[in-house]
Amino acid sequence: KLVHFPLTGAAPEPKSSPMTPLPPLPAFPPGFLWGVSASAFQIEGAVHAGGRGPTTWDAFTREPGRIKDGSDADVATDHYHRYREDVALMAQLGVGAYRFSIAWSRVQPTGEGPANRQGLDFYDRLVDELCAAGIAPVPTLFHWDTPLALEERGGWLDRDTAHRFAAYAALVAERLGDRVPRWITLNEPAEITLLGYGLGEHAPGKRLIFDALPAAHHQLLAHGLGVEALRAAGAREIGIAASHSPVWTAGDSEEDRAAAELYDTLMNRLFADPILTGAYPEGWAELMPGPVAEDLSVISAPLDWYGINYYNPALVGAPEPDAVTSLAGIALPPDLPFGLHEIEGHDRTDFGWPVVPDGLRELLVTFRARYGDALPPVLITENGCSYGDGPDPASGGRVADTRRIAYHDGHLRALHRAMAESVDVRGYFIWSILDNFEWAEGYRQRFGLVHVDYETLTRTPKDSYAWYRDVVRAAGKGP
Ligand code: NOJ
Repeated sequence: KLVHFPLTGAAPEPKSSPMTPLPPLPAFPPGFLWGVSASAFQIEGAVHAGGRGPTTWDAFTREPGRIKDGSDADVATDHYHRYREDVALMAQLGVGAYRFSIAWSRVQPTGEGPANRQGLDFYDRLVDELCAAGIAPVPTLFHWDTPLALEERGGWLDRDTAHRFAAYAALVAERLGDRVPRWITLNEPAEITLLGYGLGEHAPGKRLIFDALPAAHHQLLAHGLGVEALRAAGAREIGIAASHSPVWTAGDSEEDRAAAELYDTLMNRLFADPILTGAYPEGWAELMPGPVAEDLSVISAPLDWYGINYYNPALVGAPEPDAVTSLAGIALPPDLPFGLHEIEGHDRTDFGWPVVPDGLRELLVTFRARYGDALPPVLITENGCSYGDGPDPASGGRVADTRRIAYHDGHLRALHRAMAESVDVRGYFIWSILDNFEWAEGYRQRFGLVHVDYETLTRTPKDSYAWYRDVVRAAGKGP
């Protein structure tokens, strides 16, 4: 019965489901920000251009067996050379904001030292192009692509990486701060901790289980020091993009409840509590390295908004000693103190992730209840789905990704319900503008509103792109 964490799953052939017209979406408040997201390593390619230094992910993709389709991201979507075309696609889409990430190793090839001018020039051109198109640039300073030289000195297990990050943040803010209205420090520190250092599924491929905890603390510290550096450079509207899931309890035994609570602590509270309340959940500060109390006052520097990436809930119960557990296709250590279960009774994306729109409402309402006024306004910095639909020659190359439309329609309705239940949400960013390199999955999972043919690099807007354009047009793209 146990189990796949929802991160796992194959990509079956897309089924086309005939779609009945959707009723109009409820109205979102004026000024609500509509956007799309992507990240540097997943789209840029051009890994040797402009003096870029190697990253943990460049190294990881070269290790045999790490990436399921054997691919790397040396070319990816070639956004580095095609950014003008991609910004034009966003302009036609009509969105108010584009969340992208800056590759640290373009700016500092070894993760420290003076800025590499050519690296910053690229982001300077991108920001100009966006501004000219009336799209707000929303850079994430770190989206998993750690400069390899830093990793060789311990990466996120080393406290110094947090200080290096702050120095890097200052360099970027100095160059782009005059045009960037809104900043994101880190993307999903929980995932790097768990998948990168805990289970070895992502770069840097370490399998330290609970010894990965320092990576969480040092990323949180990097976030806090990054906020300080950005503020010192005059930046406003600073947030983070953190992944969160509502946690459902698999059974009603005491053990099930305890396991679900532990999982909720690890994936939600371990990251949100320090940032929003200045304290780790009870018993966890003792497990963290360094002067933790002092660090917490840095980590909890006030934010202007809190970014949430939502994909699906988690169903968690007591560990079942005889069951084989797996996470994203890799065996979990047998002595984990919780068991993850399949969520039944919901559609699944082609990644195998359950489609549970109301989980977004549940998550937001839970956060609001948990943190009260300590929760600043929220932006949904990612929400999206992998479906394999591609151009259909029979219909002139159209990509009829009706399931993606249904997915986003459902999640926007759930978001609206959360707002009606008094959660202050200010914007929604779809992951992703383009199909791209989905980490350990390679190119097998397609999250884009725009299809990418990886042979020709041709971009083809999907039906969901036209749908989102109409949503944004009807609502007004935001401030
Ligand atoms: C989370 C990550 O931030 C992003 O890089 C990834 O592609 C999506 N979710 C989908 O898995």
